[in-house]
Amino acid sequence: MTPERIELHGKCFRLYIRRQEITRMVRRLAREIARDYADKDPLCLIVLKGAFIFAADLLRLLPPQWAVETVRARSYGMQMTSSGNVELELPTLPLQGKHLLLIEDIIDTGLTLQALVSALEQHNPASLRIVTLLAKPPARMLPIPLHYVGKEIPPVFVVGYGMDYAEAGRSLPNIYALDSEPQGQS
Ligand code: IMP
Ligand code: MG
Repeated sequence: MTPERIELHGKCFRLYIRRQEITRMVRRLAREIARDYADKDPLCLIVLKGAFIFAADLLRLLPPQWAVETVRARSYGMQMTSSGNVELELPTLPLQGKHLLLIEDIIDTGLTLQALVSALEQHNPASLRIVTLLAKPPARMLPIPLHYVGKEIPPVFVVGYGMDYAEAGRSLPNIYALDSEPQGQS
């Protein structure tokens, strides 16, 4: 049974995107990516921590030759909005001449992505594309093209499937959205 509502750190969240819909989105993205990289073996870069579950599902639908590394970006801390201050940890292996595929969970202001893209471009990769499970409206205004987007969502705060609220909720198999209604009403 999938609960319709859950509580994390005293905030109420309602079921927003079910596992079955997530699976369909991931399958479609994998088909598009596999088609576009048919003649290349990219280096996939998982943006930790939020993208780890999405990446695990996506990568298992992609060719086994593809290499996987992680990058780390922190901007939200314990808040629900970006601090605007992005800390990065890039892989130590050479990225020059590689086809990079950055795997993100969700793009909101795009500040994290912009910081990552400009840091990665300094290493002169052969190409750099982005796949994100979700994108919020400000992502459309970005100067960076988002090549593969699972779903555009309104500006709601979501948790589950790798995404957290103050580190809680990452292991939820479904995605939940912050409920604006007061608790006890439905
Ligand atoms: P941005 O820099 O505002 O685009 O936010 C980027 C990162 O913040 C994402 O990769 C997520 O890890 C996190 N984030 C953005 N929106 C949400 C959300 O609704 N729930 C949980 N994490 C989020
Ligand atoms: Mg992320």
